[in-house]
Amino acid sequence: MKITVKSSRFDYNVFIKKDLLDNIEDYIDVEKSYVIISDDNIPEKIIKKVSSKIKNSLIIKFPEGEKSKSFEEYFRIINLLIDKSITKETTIIALGGGVTGDLAGFISSTLYRGVPYIQIPTTLLAQIDSSIGGKVAINVGNIKNSVGQIYPPKLVLIDPATLETLPERHFNNGMAEMIKYGMIHSRELFNYIKNKDVYNNLEKLIYDSIMIKKAYVEEDEYDNQKRHILNFGHTYGHAYESYYNYDKYLHGEAVALGMMKVVNKDIAEELSLILQKFSLPIKDSATKEELIDYIKRDKKAKTEGIDFVLLENIGNAYIKNIKFGDL
Ligand SMILES: NC(=O)c1ccc[n+]([C@@H]2O[C@H](COP(=O)([O-])OP(=O)(O)OC[C@H]3O[C@@H](n4cnc5c(N)ncnc54)[C@H](O)[C@@H]3O)[C@@H](O)[C@H]2O)c1
Repeated sequence: MKITVKSSRFDYNVFIKKDLLDNIEDYIDVEKSYVIISDDNIPEKIIKKVSSKIKNSLIIKFPEGEKSKSFEEYFRIINLLIDKSITKETTIIALGGGVTGDLAGFISSTLYRGVPYIQIPTTLLAQIDSSIGGKVAINVGNIKNSVGQIYPPKLVLIDPATLETLPERHFNNGMAEMIKYGMIHSRELFNYIKNKDVYNNLEKLIYDSIMIKKAYVEEDEYDNQKRHILNFGHTYGHAYESYYNYDKYLHGEAVALGMMKVVNKDIAEELSLILQKFSLPIKDSATKEELIDYIKRDKKAKTEGIDFVLLENIGNAYIKNIKFGDL
């Protein structure tokens, strides 16, 4: 399956195919030089599939986890690349989950004012979400993605076979974002996830999810209005993540809670059933008073209030500005 995503810099292709990495030479020029950036928890088997075919590759690893989306790690890797005399002709490969994609993408966007990079996402969340749309960033302190930019990849290669080693909790984490796509844009996708066997239909579901993300990204690449819809459930979601210092919930789990917070009773009933199918949380004890400060600090917040993404019904979302006092 192939999807082309349009961006203001260039259009790029996304290929989705089980076992695609076994024939990576069909997708990239293996004679060129590459730097593979990966976290230290990505199975060696996956790294070998990519590195073994490339004639000239350097592998750089960083400690797994959100804490590596930091200025320190960015600085360490940039220094290493300059030390190794990497030139603008080298392509960076981000091989891993969303943390790897965001960090390696941000490095690519700034090194020599921009070197090309390829996304090879290996978590479900990265395959359906973070590898598409060009958002790259690091965190500063507790504020997520506070330094970053929109810098599209040259190519995205998605091999659902990589998910075989992904822990179940991380698979479900990605499912939260897939459910979100159904909620904002497609009753059909929502029903499919609810009623069908997700595990044996991953190629189709990844494809459908990316097609939804593509529609919003192409219409509003720089995230001025329409792309905000993709943030459904994220305002409360980010607040839960920050309130618990990124320890208690994975991103998708926090988004699951965030979606539950902003839907009416009828939708909540249906949503809670599908979330529970994937062992995602539906309730948390933090109060509105405890979360409000974090909501005010959300990137989308303005002085008076914040744009919330709400649902008309499942499959139809809209944006509404809500004053903090009315929350
Ligand atoms: N740029 C965007 O548009 C965008 C969108 C959504 C989320 N994000 C970012 O994505 C990040 C979360 O991404 P994530 O959930 O993929 O986390 P992650 O990159 O930390 O990966 C989760 C864990 O899975 C491991 N892993 C990855 N692939 C594996 C595999 N195939 N087998 C076994 N283990 C594997 C990793 O080592 C890590 O321990 C957050 O930082 C979030 O801000 C970015």
